[in-house]
Amino acid sequence: MVRLFVVLTAAGSGTRLGCGMPKALVPVAGRPLLEWALKGLPSCDFVVVNAPSAQLDRFQSVVSGFDFPTLVVPGGSSRQGSVAAALRALINAVGPARDDDLVLVHDAARPFTPSAVFDRVVAALRDGHRAVVPALAVTDTIKVVAPRTRPDEPVEIVTTTPNRATLRAVQTPQGFYLHELAALHERFAERAIAESTAFSDDAALYEATNQPVVTVVGDYAAYKITTPADLTLAEFQHSPHR
Ligand code: CTP
Ligand code: MG
Repeated sequence: MVRLFVVLTAAGSGTRLGCGMPKALVPVAGRPLLEWALKGLPSCDFVVVNAPSAQLDRFQSVVSGFDFPTLVVPGGSSRQGSVAAALRALINAVGPARDDDLVLVHDAARPFTPSAVFDRVVAALRDGHRAVVPALAVTDTIKVVAPRTRPDEPVEIVTTTPNRATLRAVQTPQGFYLHELAALHERFAERAIAESTAFSDDAALYEATNQPVVTVVGDYAAYKITTPADLTLAEFQHSPHR
């Protein structure tokens, strides 16, 4: 039997949300985002959840309401560092990675991801792809800008406009073979020290080593709760009084 594991990244502070608590503990319709995210996971062999180190107990108490095997581990100083710590803890808990072990890395900040997205990622892995990301076409025109020369400079200089037809906004869950993803995280561990040097998703580690990454169709419902407006939308969608 092929084993399926999940790393649920939830160690972020939620600075842009500005609720004064870690984002995964912010309630929507009375339940913390972490609980919604756990409820949305597919059935799997083991889940590792990253938590801010000061909140391990609180996260543990949310996680213990679920009956699959889980472990809550402290996150790192970047999302990449959190995933690396989770992968180490996972391999410690379940034993050395087997060649066919699969792992999905998913953000607790995308708590309403439809099960069909998980299914498409796993199906593409089973079809032989080694790194799979859900993706959507972008609707905005995206510009590349040059770094500001002074922090108080009111304008930024636009350098280029990539052809929008070639751009995709990518989501999670992202799917991989556990032994390959764990090895890449060990190889690039130095970059995980700060968000400014870290990779912002897991597929980027494959791209950095010229290994193929493929997309499957994502879903707007898998949007990332980042700003207060996202939280308002989530409340509206999940309010019991709607
Ligand atoms: N994450 C993590 N460890 C970190 C940073 C982020 O596990 N050191 C997780 C977050 O919990 C989230 C996902 O990575 O599930 C995506 O990060 P983001 O949306 O940026 O969440 P936060 O970092 O919490 O938000 P902000 O950047 O506004 O502080
Ligand atoms: Mg962040």
